[in-house]
Amino acid sequence: MTCGRRNPPGRIAYVDGRYLNHGEAGVHVEDRGLQFGDAVYEVFRVENAKLYDFADHMERLERSLGELFIPMPMSRAALGHVMAETVRRNRVEFGLVYLQITRGCRRRDFPIPDPPLTPTVIVTAHGLDREEIACRLREGVAVVTRPDIRWGRCDIKTTQLLAGLLAKTHARRKGAFEAWLVDQDGYITEGASSNAWIVTADGKIVTRDLSRAILPGVTRRVMLEAAAAAKMAVEVRKFTPAEATGAREAFLTSSTGPAVPVISIDGAAVGDGRPGPVTKRIAIHYFRHSRPDDNLGPT
Ligand code: PDD
Repeated sequence: MTCGRRNPPGRIAYVDGRYLNHGEAGVHVEDRGLQFGDAVYEVFRVENAKLYDFADHMERLERSLGELFIPMPMSRAALGHVMAETVRRNRVEFGLVYLQITRGCRRRDFPIPDPPLTPTVIVTAHGLDREEIACRLREGVAVVTRPDIRWGRCDIKTTQLLAGLLAKTHARRKGAFEAWLVDQDGYITEGASSNAWIVTADGKIVTRDLSRAILPGVTRRVMLEAAAAAKMAVEVRKFTPAEATGAREAFLTSSTGPAVPVISIDGAAVGDGRPGPVTKRIAIHYFRHSRPDDNLGPT
């Protein structure tokens, strides 16, 4: 069964100090985010109109900005208030917030301007279809493998996503939900927009170690904490597509859907081809560990 797609679009965007209808919201033609993909982003899960795992996302955001020498445009708390207000204005109960920060605007020239420009801040929010997400967790998804042709700093969450979107497009054309990317040594790095996990025959949960080859997923981090608290056995190491296909279970994680069971890889069933008990168990523990930020109110 395919899980349907009925996302109501978000309508109000925050761009540089103003809340605008999407039709009126835009950036300058010489914004470096547009010209070069010179920008970073974060995606926050929203439930009961609250942002989840706020501190973890902010930590990763500050790291991404720092690696690219983009100054933090405002305090964590101020960004939090803007995002909470965007959630409120779009009446999102259950969905996602996208925060994008570009280096700012300047006549097109490759080197990073010095002194730094004023970054552009863009926030959008939209609802997700609960039933679609629940269906995915219940039924599981197919993945296909693709060569990982991304750049050497996949640990930075930049808006330059062409390799990921080509891989994902290939996956969708093959009837799969996600593409698992394979590095030059034949190991899976991660999904085009998610982290990759397997469960071994002896019940260990395995996910790749952090390096420049993968994004340090916030869901991955919370999931590892949840697994440790539940005393579930974990191994942090690489695995190949062959090991994944022969694994007892597999799943993927991202802010758009924690512990989504992977039931087939390149057309071959994983385990018995149905969502497995370890994936279900870790999902329950994840939801106990993932926390809303109750201090963020609208401005
Ligand atoms: N993507 N790896 C990649 C390449 C990703 O793009 C993402 C998230 C993840 C999971 O990270 P997290 O658990 O923090 O969501 C891993 C988001 C959801 C996106 O681009 O829409």
